[in-house]
Amino acid sequence: MAVPLILDCDPGHDDAMALLLAIADPAVDLLAVTTVAGNQTVDKCTLNARRVLSLAGASHIPVARGAAQPLVRRLRIADDVHGQTGLDGPLFTDEPSVPESPYSAHELLTDVLRTHPTPVTVVATGALTNVAALLASEPVPNLAEIVWMGGSTDRGNIQPLAEANAAVDPEAADQVVRSGVPFTMCGLNVTHQALVTDEIVAQFERIGTPLARVCVEWMTFFASTYRDLFGFAAPPLHDPVAVARVIDPAIVRCVEANLVIETQGEWTAGATVVDLDGYTGRPANARIAVELDRGAFWSRIVAAVAALG
Ligand code: BDR
Ligand code: CA
Repeated sequence: MAVPLILDCDPGHDDAMALLLAIADPAVDLLAVTTVAGNQTVDKCTLNARRVLSLAGASHIPVARGAAQPLVRRLRIADDVHGQTGLDGPLFTDEPSVPESPYSAHELLTDVLRTHPTPVTVVATGALTNVAALLASEPVPNLAEIVWMGGSTDRGNIQPLAEANAAVDPEAADQVVRSGVPFTMCGLNVTHQALVTDEIVAQFERIGTPLARVCVEWMTFFASTYRDLFGFAAPPLHDPVAVARVIDPAIVRCVEANLVIETQGEWTAGATVVDLDGYTGRPANARIAVELDRGAFWSRIVAAVAALG
């Protein structure tokens, strides 16, 4: 049975690839897509989500717009990484064929969770603003699990000790982690194992479809910003790691540990404090991704792009 899934995202080049994986992989059933401000404004992220679904021919999946701002902080976008559109690379001038849902992300999330016959997994690949609002609603929704791309067991990528999705909305991340809903964190320590090497790009090129060519252009842009900003030889494809964890938990090995989100620190807001060594004595409250099966990960992604034609 395919795992029922909602993807809450801020596309974003790696979010776009996470969407393609979730649309095409037979191990998951993508029921809905919701957007959140992060990589770009929520307007641009919503347009990009519609664009990706249109390119993938996934017009049956609703796309709803979520939070335009973090819970309490000012939005900080990542146009240095993802460009002016949030999905720079290929130039699109037409309107995506997939429309925006008339529902807000919150309405769509609650509706899908209320009506689906079995608990649904939410994969979040942006700030946790929408998810925090969802968990604050009554009755508490019947979620199977939240799997998040965000945080790090090590250092950050937007602050010395904070990863971007955590740093954009630390208060939301804190509320979600404290909620008690089963929570998995796929942080930089594991997503930096998912590097889009020239060999991976060559595999997309060999697929040869219009969608695969778009993926090559996306990855080429993403590689250029990661090279210029961070000195990476190949960019890390963060967000699909969280989808891959749901597709097959063996692809992303996790350990159980205590996780808290720093919200008060003058220099450390958004730090994900993971007690891998049991220093604090606090009980485990999260699954923390630590190791990626690179071969299995990339074959699922390449197969997804090829399957979408
Ligand atoms: C995360 O931040 C965003 O720029 C990416 O889409 C990813 O979700 C990586 O830190
Ligand atoms: Ca993202």
